Amino acid sequence: MAENDVVLRFEGASKRFPGVLALSDVAFDVRRGSVHALVGENGAGKSTLIKILTGVHRQSSGRVLYNGADLNFNNPHEALLAGITAIYQELNLVPTLTVAENVFLGHPPKASAGTVDWRAMRVMAGDLLKFLEVDIDPGALVRTLGVARKQVVEIAKALSMDARVIIMDEPTAAIPKKEIDTLFRIIRTLRERGVTIIYISHHLDEVFTIADAVTVLRDGRVVDTMPTAELDEAELIRLMVGRELTEQYPYHPAKPGAEALRVEGLARKGVLKNISFSLRAGEVVGVSGMVGSGRTELLRAIYGVDPVSSGSVYVGGAARRFAAPRDAIEAGIALLPEERKTGGLVLLLSVMDNIGLPSLKKLSTRGVMRDKDLTRTSERMRDLMNIKTPSLKQRVMNLSGGNQQKVVLGKWFARDPKVYLFDEPTRGIDVGAKVEIYNLMNRLKEEGAAILMVSSELPEILGMSDRVLVMREGEIAGELGRGELSQERVLKLAIGGESIGRKTAVD
Ligand SMILES: Nc1ncnc2c1ncn2[C@@H]1O[C@H](COP(=O)(O)OP(=O)(O)OP(=O)(O)O)[C@@H](O)[C@H]1O
Ligand SMILES: [Mg+2]
Repeated sequence: MAENDVVLRFEGASKRFPGVLALSDVAFDVRRGSVHALVGENGAGKSTLIKILTGVHRQSSGRVLYNGADLNFNNPHEALLAGITAIYQELNLVPTLTVAENVFLGHPPKASAGTVDWRAMRVMAGDLLKFLEVDIDPGALVRTLGVARKQVVEIAKALSMDARVIIMDEPTAAIPKKEIDTLFRIIRTLRERGVTIIYISHHLDEVFTIADAVTVLRDGRVVDTMPTAELDEAELIRLMVGRELTEQYPYHPAKPGAEALRVEGLARKGVLKNISFSLRAGEVVGVSGMVGSGRTELLRAIYGVDPVSSGSVYVGGAARRFAAPRDAIEAGIALLPEERKTGGLVLLLSVMDNIGLPSLKKLSTRGVMRDKDLTRTSERMRDLMNIKTPSLKQRVMNLSGGNQQKVVLGKWFARDPKVYLFDEPTRGIDVGAKVEIYNLMNRLKEEGAAILMVSSELPEILGMSDRVLVMREGEIAGELGRGELSQERVLKLAIGGESIGRKTAVD
């Protein structure tokens, strides 16, 4: 590569955190105007690497060059002024501000008098969102948006700055297919204009679709940097995990037991309509549907997060009323929420305390936590989930995104619930760890737990479910048994092309 073509160069860069060598002697070049993917297992060092590029961290040793000069940012703002910006996998929006204010936070359009031109701001934000082909009101408060839409706002925000290097850390983790295509179209346009995209994703198909080159990280080291055209998926996985991965969806047929959960006529005004189904011990029931079809809302309503206008929930045959999640937890139900940062973890607390949190009662005697039991339980969860952390006392905020997700899972497994409500259980989780989570689901099934799994990953729904409920506009549009499952049938139901006679779960 001619020197002039190199926009970013890592030269023996390392990054050390207390007890962790997150990056070790990293060396590779990124070509100007290319889409360069970074892949690797959870904790491999991808986010750390981009945090160096954006001035969040500085390397402990080695050099990082941007346009041939040492990169020397003290904070993300300085990186931004130099033309480098990132969309992080943890959303960085201000929930109490509007969409437009978030998009132009830090660089608002100014009127001639030098004051912020609020009208222009809305119009420009509206244009960007139109460009992304999404129907989001620029005046809406960000906190009223679901995770998919928030990510779209993040993308619009990056687009609003005239960046030369745009880093996307799992940008498609939560956005629907249509918007992924839109994003890819935009990425290609940006590339034509000489913008460099650093693209991080656990979805290897995306890497092959959009990236020109890929750097594989494992345990903080560069395994290889190659043009994607010279690789295939199996080879890439092998480079990432250092072994062959045979079975991506290790489905075990269920031996359904007694009814674990039943929902009858559940409704929430404007969100959910007349939802009835049942879930038996030892079953994984997938919930599919488009973004906005009410999947997450269904889980929240069952769990007592949101009030319902009518309907009943039965656990183990007995009618239950959950005014709050506490009641649901007490009844043996666990929810793994979609947004782990706000819904699943206390980031300032340690791995151990997060795992112990929902099991406080179980792990204490007369209100006093038995430290040994807490340690033993969290060690067991760490090993079971393969959570990568230097110590159980590490604050969860210092773990990689995927490992945070595993802590959320671990904290519920520790409690031994009878019913699991999973919302996107493998989002942000690497290919190897996904299989571990599926194996865990199989084990939970065998132990008689019932699992309701919402997922936007159709292959995951098809691969791991015993039955699938497809939602559309707040209703269950149909139910498919394992034998009837196909991508086409699920999609048809989700978008309204077919209606399948559904025997009610209550008969
Ligand atoms: N601020 C920090 N303090 C201590 N350790 C950290 C910090 N940030 C990251 N680490 C550690 O550095 C390693 C690399 O983490 P990083 O977030 O870069 O991984 P990643 O490749 O982005 O993983 P994921 O796919 O899960 O997002 C991990 O072991 C993580 O626990
Ligand atoms: Mg990361």
